[in-house]
Amino acid sequence: MRSMESADLSPGELFKLLTGAVVPRPIAWTSTISEAGINNLSPFSFFTVVSSEPPMLLLSLEYKEGGWLKDSAENIEKTGEFVVNIVSSDMAGAVNISSRPFPAAVDEFTQVEMTPLPSLRVRPPRVQESLISMECVLHSTFHPGSDRLVVGEIVVFHVAEQVLMPDGRIDVSGLDPLGRVANQFTYTGPLFSPPR
Ligand SMILES: Cc1cc2nc3c(=O)[nH]c(=O)nc-3n(C[C@H](O)[C@H](O)[C@H](O)COP(=O)(O)O)c2cc1C
Repeated sequence: MRSMESADLSPGELFKLLTGAVVPRPIAWTSTISEAGINNLSPFSFFTVVSSEPPMLLLSLEYKEGGWLKDSAENIEKTGEFVVNIVSSDMAGAVNISSRPFPAAVDEFTQVEMTPLPSLRVRPPRVQESLISMECVLHSTFHPGSDRLVVGEIVVFHVAEQVLMPDGRIDVSGLDPLGRVANQFTYTGPLFSPPR
C-alpha cells in the first residue's frame, strides 16, 4: 500500500488516481445549443444525481487551457438549458468522437451521425438514438476546485417504452448503459443481488 499526500501530486497524477479510483462512472452525453443556434453534443463522466425531489443532476466540466469555458459550459451559461442523454454500449464510438474539440461552429450531432429530436421544454435537442434523455434547466453553477460544477433541474424525462417497466423502474439490462473507467469504457452488468 502506498500512501500519497495530495499536495505532493501533480494535476496529471491526481487525474489518473481519481479517474481510476472513482469507477465505473455514468456518462452524461450532453446536448446544448449556442446562442447562434449550433448544436453541441459532448460526454461528461464527472456526473451524478444531486437530488430526487426536485430531480437534479450535476456535471463537472474542466476549463480549457487559459481558463476558457468548454463550448458545452459556454452554451449552458448563455442559454440556461441542457439535455443529458444516456448512452448504450453500442454508441461508444460516437461518444468518443463527440469528445473531440470541434470548433463551436461545428454541429456535433452531424459529426457523429446522431439524430437531433426537438425537446419539449428546452431549446437543445435530444438524441433520438438514446433510450433515455433528461431535459434540464440550469439551477446553479459552483467552482469549488479546478472544475466548473453545473447543477440542472430535470423538467422532462424521455424513456423508451422498451426499457420502462410496468412498475416504473428502468430495465437497466435492456438499457445496456456505457460506463467510463479511467480513460476507457465499460459495460454495465451482469447485475446481481448479494445473498442475504
Ligand atoms: C467518456 C468521456 C467522458 C468525459 N468526461 C468529462 C468530464 O466529466 N468533464 C470534462 O470536462 N470533460 C470530459 N470529457 C472530455 C469532454 O467530452 C470534451 O472536452 C468535450 O467534448 C468538450 O467539448 P465542448 O468544448 O464541445 O464542450 C470526457 C470525454 C469522454 C470521452
